[in-house]
Amino acid sequence: QRRLLEEKMNQNKGFYITTPIYYVNDIPHIGHAYTTIAADILARYMRLKGRKVFFLTGTDEHGQKVERAALQKGKTPKEHADIMVENFKTLWKGLNISNDAFIRTTDEEHKRIVQEILQRLYDKGEIVKRKYSGMYCTPCERFWTEKDLVEGKCPDCGRDVEFIEEENYFFLMSKYQQALIEHIEKKPSYILPETRKNEVLGFLKNRTLGDLCISRPKHRLEWGIILPFDENYTTYVWFDALVNYYSALKYLAPENVEWWPPDHHLIGKDILTTHAVYWSTMLMALELPLPRNIFAHGWWTVKGKKMSKSLGNVVNPSEVIKKYGVDAFRYFLFREVSFGLDGDFSEEALIRRINNDLANDFGNLLNRFLVMNEKYMKGAVKINSII
Ligand code: ME8
Ligand code: MG
Repeated sequence: QRRLLEEKMNQNKGFYITTPIYYVNDIPHIGHAYTTIAADILARYMRLKGRKVFFLTGTDEHGQKVERAALQKGKTPKEHADIMVENFKTLWKGLNISNDAFIRTTDEEHKRIVQEILQRLYDKGEIVKRKYSGMYCTPCERFWTEKDLVEGKCPDCGRDVEFIEEENYFFLMSKYQQALIEHIEKKPSYILPETRKNEVLGFLKNRTLGDLCISRPKHRLEWGIILPFDENYTTYVWFDALVNYYSALKYLAPENVEWWPPDHHLIGKDILTTHAVYWSTMLMALELPLPRNIFAHGWWTVKGKKMSKSLGNVVNPSEVIKKYGVDAFRYFLFREVSFGLDGDFSEEALIRRINNDLANDFGNLLNRFLVMNEKYMKGAVKINSII
């Protein structure tokens, strides 16, 4: 009965699903397609069930990565972003993605809301200025402590780090450590799959959570949102990016529907910490309800290898759908691996699925149905009796 009641209450709340907002420094590949198709499947299903759905995707356009990619092409970051964003929009059309909105972090409205939120947190004393020194990984745009480093290199990407000392603004994330642990333990479906939840809990319980550096001096990074309380600094790209889930509702979502909190943030396991820890604590500081679920799915490799430009094995989804069709591609991605686990892409595996599952099994079923339907029902189909 409680379940029924909960379901009824949920009916009034809009169903809000998000994908990560992808960096515009690269062209989209099957990894990006995967998360977006997952969100699309969920969105379509919930619409069929009669729910109001807001399905958001978009692009992450500030930060050093984008600034650099633009520079290499002799463009301004915004010119570069304007070109690259089209690759995503075109691909989503080609993949039949039914997103309700597309957010760009360079949207004026988004920038204004990020500044509002920064100001609110600053006024509340949740953001403070501090002298800071640490090891900085430029490609990852992250500070690390000496202890984090693996053989003196960035633990995430394995590249060189540099020692940096400067004044910066910090979000006082550490004070939410205990509250976050309690929240995750109280809501078993907050972080899924369970292995990912345990990963986050392990991380939170085994170390002291630090504060989060949310600014970059302008001389080091110009391509970002200016801090409203100090124009010598730009906003750390992750702080800016995560706020998209909130800001989009203020200018891109249908009004008069209660959308907050998000029902599902779908992400890849690579960005679990930023969502489960940074975003959750940011929301706690803002006194906003936390999302109902963060789902971090697995990683796609190609013939057992990590996809990379240098290996030249990046799979372009547009080429796959040109050759095999969009439905076969979508089917493959979600039939081949259980959602949550890692998967391996190869054209051979795709062809096998198309032949075995779609042509043989499903084709055969359809064929038998048609023959029997002709034989026993003179080819008539009563729609009512099917539904
Ligand atoms: O991280 N397998 O953007 P990003 C599965 N802008 N999924 C993959 C994948 C792979 N090999 N490669 C990418 C960012 N993905 C930030 C996000 S959100 C507020 C900011 C998917 O362009 C997966 O969803 O690097 C992963 O989390 C995301 O693309 C990373 O996209
Ligand atoms: Mg990435």
